[in-house]
Amino acid sequence: MVCLGNICRSPLAEGILKEKARAAGLDWHVDSAGTGGWHSGEQPDHRSIAVARKYGMDISGQRARQFHPRDFQRFDLIFAMDESNLRDLRRLAPTPDDAARVRLLLEYAHGSPAEVPDPYYHDDTAFEEVFHLLDSACGEIMGRISLLS
Ligand code: 4NP
Repeated sequence: MVCLGNICRSPLAEGILKEKARAAGLDWHVDSAGTGGWHSGEQPDHRSIAVARKYGMDISGQRARQFHPRDFQRFDLIFAMDESNLRDLRRLAPTPDDAARVRLLLEYAHGSPAEVPDPYYHDDTAFEEVFHLLDSACGEIMGRISLLS
């Protein structure tokens, strides 16, 4: 799960997908990163921690990191939150096959291209909306990926 800063959207996506995989008894390795490294080492944004906690998840132990090209060897699928993340990640892909494994999260989940909007400069309502977008998308991809494995 990749966004820009790895402090708002992708930590929530990581927490939600991990929780759904755990609840389904699936041994998936789920992680998140940012295309940028400005927040490396930081906890998720307090508003992401708060909305996750509201829905019963603790994401406060996560620490931001920057996406690295070796992540292409470590993960089967790489989900970008928005078009800008998608472009940046595909530029880093060592091969065209690797580039094809980077997908826009909401497009993969729901079949129509849409972005998870960056809530960083917005209020708590934006974080709430992002949580629900991610929760619904992760529910969909659980079904899709389970069929592949
Ligand atoms: P994220 O949100 O990509 O969802 O983690 C952002 C966090 C920080 C910044 C931008 C977006 N920033 O410019 O520092």
